[in-house]
Amino acid sequence: MEIRSPKTTSEWEEYYDLRYRILREPWKQPRGSERNEGDATGMHFGLYDSNQLLGILRLDSMEIGISQIRFMAVETSNQGKGIGENLMLFAEEISKNRGDKKIILHAREIALGFYEKMGYQLIEKSYLLFGEIQHYLMEKNI
Ligand SMILES: CC(C)(COP(=O)(O)OP(=O)(O)OC[C@H]1O[C@@H](n2cnc3c(N)ncnc32)[C@H](O)[C@@H]1OP(=O)(O)O)[C@@H](O)C(=O)NCCC(=O)NCCS
Repeated sequence: MEIRSPKTTSEWEEYYDLRYRILREPWKQPRGSERNEGDATGMHFGLYDSNQLLGILRLDSMEIGISQIRFMAVETSNQGKGIGENLMLFAEEISKNRGDKKIILHAREIALGFYEKMGYQLIEKSYLLFGEIQHYLMEKNI
């Protein structure tokens, strides 16, 4: 098992494909909707098991001392096996090592319990995605 950025063109395709299939396709969003302008500047991480991509996240640098975790997704058949937790801990370490004091994220309602387990505190209700997926601002001091 290793956590690293995708390297080759086909690894990058796989990375965005996983993001699309888990976070966009179930809501019938078009291909391409899984990407945004922050992809150019964020840090991208994938958890690979024997070179098979099982989970992903993006770590964005916000204002000084604050990072944001975005587009966190684990392959459906591999959820509940610690992959999300490993990715979060890895991103937190990177963030801490670059001097951040806090990580924020906008959690889908369904994932609130996961982030609470990871030590994130619920701050407030934030935005509604696709008119139905309620998000909540959460944060953790690191
Ligand atoms: C939410 C998600 C990222 C969690 O990753 P995961 O690899 O399945 O989670 P882990 O196996 O690392 O779980 C770590 C702990 O959180 C718990 N947990 C995981 N998902 C949970 C959830 N949705 N609600 C409550 N608890 C959850 C696990 O039971 C585990 O607890 P334990 O340590 O007591 O056993 C993943 O399930 C996923 O991609 N879901 C669909 C997409 C999504 O909702 N992404 C988040 C967008 S904000």
